[in-house]
Amino acid sequence: VLAYLNGQYQPRSGATISVEDRGFVFGDGVYEVWRIVNGTLFETERHLARLASGLNELRIPAPDIVHPDVLNSVAKRLVAESGLLDGEATLYLEVTRGVAPRTHQFPSKPTNPTVYATVNRFSPPEELRAKGAACITIPDLRWLRCDIKTIQLLPNVLAKQAAVERGALDAIMIRDGVATEGSHANVFAVIDGVLRTHPTNHLILAGITRAVVLELAANAGIRAVEEPVTEAELASADELFLAGTTTDVMPIVRLNDAVIASGQPGPITTRLVREFRVCLDVACGVVSTTT
Ligand SMILES: Cc1ncc(COP(=O)(O)O)c(C=O)c1O
Repeated sequence: VLAYLNGQYQPRSGATISVEDRGFVFGDGVYEVWRIVNGTLFETERHLARLASGLNELRIPAPDIVHPDVLNSVAKRLVAESGLLDGEATLYLEVTRGVAPRTHQFPSKPTNPTVYATVNRFSPPEELRAKGAACITIPDLRWLRCDIKTIQLLPNVLAKQAAVERGALDAIMIRDGVATEGSHANVFAVIDGVLRTHPTNHLILAGITRAVVLELAANAGIRAVEEPVTEAELASADELFLAGTTTDVMPIVRLNDAVIASGQPGPITTRLVREFRVCLDVACGVVSTTT
């Protein structure tokens, strides 16, 4: 697998960064992950806009790769030379403040941001999706800028690990009695026929998949509101699902070892799973809108 590091292409196994990189030392950076189908990136611009906004919040100058033409050409070469032109893959892009002697404040001399990108094979979780997955709930221990997609992911790492240790797919984080999001996906519930998800503010990441799902729901005539779901409502919801780039749209049928509704993926979730697949395939040119 090939990696792109600061303008150079090289095998990922040989790519190295400085021990003084502020990403390594402080987690001082942001990242993005795109879904790729047959070599085409899904939602290039929306992910780039989120990246640009995160860089702006952290006052890291935007590198050239934040331009869609540059990103697409880097992605094309990574995908082609890593043998991932056919089928599904993901692109990972990370930008840090760069290399400087360790001081908490920004370096006194401007640094060049470190830019790293790579690709991986992706297999959509079809089997699990058909039967639905399990989640646990866990306190949301994160800071108050969860809207920035920083590489500092320790609470997310610990939440996901807790889920895995209990045989679950993911952990839904609870802050002040409401479900914020999963370790790397947004959370949706269907309650009384209405689709509900936490509003976009500083407490969650504004997921691109979340945005697409809300658009698909609107097109399908499914009523949706961006309002928090309480912990109690989560347990008694008619349907629950996660939505994220690498999670896809994933029905949740068990929560903390209790069954959600019928214990099967519900009709609205199943519809959105199908709509999302079509949307992805159309956007990436796998099928045309007229077929
Ligand atoms: C905390 C968190 N929430 C939500 C998401 C889903 O965002 P997206 O759909 O853009 O992948 C992610 C993705 O990594 C995430 O890390």
